[in-house]
Amino acid sequence: MSEFVRVASVAEIPPGTSQEVVAGNRVVAIFNVDGEFHALDGICPHAGGPLAQGKVVGGVVACPWHGWQYDLKTGRNCVNANINAGCHAVRIQGDDILLEVS
Ligand code: FES
Repeated sequence: MSEFVRVASVAEIPPGTSQEVVAGNRVVAIFNVDGEFHALDGICPHAGGPLAQGKVVGGVVACPWHGWQYDLKTGRNCVNANINAGCHAVRIQGDDILLEVS
């Protein structure tokens, strides 16, 4: 059964930034793209790179270690659709960012 847990305040992740958080037993990367929040697993499926430190362009994050790219809305790798960085539902409640964890 899944639930939403608070992981940060909206003010802590301004537009154009990202942050790594821990939600339940997972490391998650949260991205604020022009006020819209997205959340992927924070650990790159390739070799464990920190996705929260990746550069975001056009709704896609590039892993800082070897450049694999993931769509922020789906978590899907941009080259191989069979690879997914794990997408998490985000809910904004007042000034709080909540993430769905199972
Ligand atoms: S660890 Fe992310 S691309 Fe290699």
